[in-house]
Amino acid sequence: MDKIKGTNLYGAYSGSVMKNINTSWYSTAFYLGLLKKIFKYIPKESVSGVLDLGSGKGLAMVVFKKNGIKNVGGVELRRDLYEICQENLKKYNITPRLHLNEDACKVKDFSYFNTIFLFNPFPSNVMKIVVENLVNYFQKENKTCYVIYINPLHNTELQKANFKEITSFKAPISNSDVKLFRFQ
Ligand SMILES: C[S@@+](CC[C@H](N)C(=O)[O-])C[C@H]1O[C@@H](n2cnc3c(N)ncnc32)[C@H](O)[C@@H]1O
Repeated sequence: MDKIKGTNLYGAYSGSVMKNINTSWYSTAFYLGLLKKIFKYIPKESVSGVLDLGSGKGLAMVVFKKNGIKNVGGVELRRDLYEICQENLKKYNITPRLHLNEDACKVKDFSYFNTIFLFNPFPSNVMKIVVENLVNYFQKENKTCYVIYINPLHNTELQKANFKEITSFKAPISNSDVKLFRFQ
């Protein structure tokens, strides 16, 4: 993808979370394989939109949008990554439903999205607040919320809030742990 469009999609891992971790596997193929797996457990038709909290340069957003997800969105704390992502989305002709340069803790309105994508972006204190915001919104709206959580270090925050684990599996290519959760 990168070569064709001259974009800068890879290496969104320069934040502290992924320091010292080998991410040479990070690729379009990884996300395509992941989507294929996810759709075995969450039917494609029931995914109205995917919001990537900690969206980096937007590779996940691009691959999801180009592979059948109607609404994509992203929230990224780092200004530099947010701006690179904006350029990438433009180059792929993607208009996100939401794209914020913001702390994910501040997001309280999840309209257009019923699925949250987390690539282990946060420490547990942030995860706790994000989960509280999800519960408040989806309970009020009386809607189902799915969470795709890669490298799910803080999944107990979801469990404590009554998110039920649908399944767990190893991601293709990277072999990272992935857990899928459902709320309501
Ligand atoms: C592992 S990268 C994931 C990139 C992207 N989700 C993908 O799969 O292509 C995690 C990202 O989360 C961002 N992040 C960390 N804490 C955040 C917060 N509180 N709010 C929003 N973004 C945050 C980091 O800056 C980093 O870009």
